Amino acid sequence: MKFTILATVVSTLLIAASSVEAHVTANPSAGVSGSYFQSNFRVPHGCDGNSTDMVIVEIPKGVTSVKPRALYPWNTAINMVALDTPITTSTGVINTTVGSVTWSNGLILDSMYEDFGLQFKLPVMEGPLYWRVYQHCVNNAWNNWTAIPDSTGKTTGEPAAVINVANATTSTTTPSDNTTSSSGKTSAAISFSQALGFGHVVFVGAGALLMAMI
Ligand SMILES: *[C@@H]1O[C@H](CO)[C@@H](O)[C@H](O)[C@H]1NC(C)=O
Ligand SMILES: *[C@@H]1O[C@H](CO)[C@@H](O)[C@H](O)[C@H]1NC(C)=O
Ligand SMILES: *[C@@H]1O[C@H](CO)[C@@H](O)[C@H](O)[C@H]1NC(C)=O
Ligand SMILES: *[C@@H]1O[C@H](CO)[C@@H](O)[C@H](O)[C@H]1NC(C)=O
Ligand SMILES: *[C@@H]1O[C@H](CO)[C@@H](O)[C@H](O)[C@H]1NC(C)=O
Repeated sequence: MKFTILATVVSTLLIAASSVEAHVTANPSAGVSGSYFQSNFRVPHGCDGNSTDMVIVEIPKGVTSVKPRALYPWNTAINMVALDTPITTSTGVINTTVGSVTWSNGLILDSMYEDFGLQFKLPVMEGPLYWRVYQHCVNNAWNNWTAIPDSTGKTTGEPAAVINVANATTSTTTPSDNTTSSSGKTSAAISFSQALGFGHVVFVGAGALLMAMI
């Protein structure tokens, strides 16, 4: 029983992975709630054969400490937005946060891909964290990767990138399967698969809702 369900979950993950290849994806895409994380937003193709010359990644609410990777020869702009609730620190009040990062004045041929790196702190949450990515091409066309699954799990339009966030505290207290935590460093992928194995509700890929009742 457990085996069958796990096999189904794994094959669903594989299907999800292969079907999103042509979309903008976050790599890696499994992180631990509230932890520092690094991911690359991969632009896999251009616009109808045209090269990409600008990429904008919108930072989801709750994501902090954002720092983009310097990617030459692209110009990298960090765009700040006002915080809903300013934070008071010992050195003063912080009232802005990174709202988006824009990489411009570069070129990716349609036959090539590029990775746009960010490091940041994940919010305290569990489930999918969606990232809207705007791709502009030399023919002045946009591919706006902004679609988020509706309540039935269906995505209409170009899907947003997703990072699946698991609760580290919950997954490290799991009683069996000693091998996964033997290194002392629970990786995001491991916590995510542990979450799958212990009856949590998790969201996978472009939003299919999976319930592993084991
Ligand atoms: C660029 O895209 C347009 C459609 O916007 C298409 O007609 C044209 O053939 C494309 N150019 C190249 C070089 O692929
Ligand atoms: C943020 O605080 C600075 C002073 O520290 C102030 O000049 C600025 O107007 C504030 N911005 C917002 C959006 O509140
Ligand atoms: C994560 O687990 C801890 C400890 O069990 C709990 O206090 C916290 O609320 C959980 N966070 C989420 C987002 O579920
Ligand atoms: C895509 O996003 C850009 C930047 O926000 C916007 O200017 C453009 O109108 C959008 N295009 C479509 C088709 O939604
Ligand atoms: C789990 O690993 C720890 C340390 O590696 C070991 O002391 C413990 O006996 C193991 N428990 C089981 C159930 O294998």
